[in-house]
Amino acid sequence: MNTIPLPLRLLVAVSLTVAGVAGDDEKTCPGAPTMTVESACRNVSGTQAMYDTCRDALAGVADPLSDHDVTIYALAAAHGAAASAEATMGAAIDEVRNNRSLPGDERDAYMECAVDYSTALHAMGSVVDKLDGCSFDGLAGDYLNGLIDVENCRDRVLKLPASPLYAMVLVDRNKAGMALFLGKLLGI
Ligand SMILES: *[C@@H]1O[C@H](CO)[C@@H](O)[C@H](O)[C@H]1NC(C)=O
Ligand SMILES: *[C@@H]1O[C@H](CO)[C@@H](O)[C@H](O)[C@H]1NC(C)=O
Repeated sequence: MNTIPLPLRLLVAVSLTVAGVAGDDEKTCPGAPTMTVESACRNVSGTQAMYDTCRDALAGVADPLSDHDVTIYALAAAHGAAASAEATMGAAIDEVRNNRSLPGDERDAYMECAVDYSTALHAMGSVVDKLDGCSFDGLAGDYLNGLIDVENCRDRVLKLPASPLYAMVLVDRNKAGMALFLGKLLGI
């Protein structure tokens, strides 16, 4: 049972939110460039579709017109990519467990995808930890490992005649790719 009085809990939740996204003590890493959301997205996007993906990934950044450390953008994108992948992995496992009319090739693909995704999520977790700690050794490799795992799953579902998961996996792939591009603003 939660014994903290409700008003106090609300207060704690609000101050955590504020500290998490903006304020004088917002995240910076030594040597990381600062720019606006707009500049960051222009910088990493060669096409309108990529630009839109970038703006989506950074939609939750507070005060987007101000300059922020690009680590904040990399973190937001990495969190978003991981959350999206987690949801897809859940959907794949759900299909395997609950869908009695799932054809065998789909079942096999989803089970293999669940393995791909669990290693992808491990790599993405490592990305988040390194960004959080401003320690960028091996960061590019972690990004790539996560991306390759998602692409492995994409190639599996691509071989299926039709898969309801295909669109989700494509979105995951784009989010993981965008996370990497934003991470590259750190010079990794
Ligand atoms: C993109 O970001 C890099 C790293 O901060 C910077 O050197 C470069 O000038 C930026 N390019 C554009 C087009 O904003
Ligand atoms: C079960 O799998 C089939 C084949 O992929 C799919 O068409 C159907 O939508 C799935 N059912 C549910 C409830 O997800």
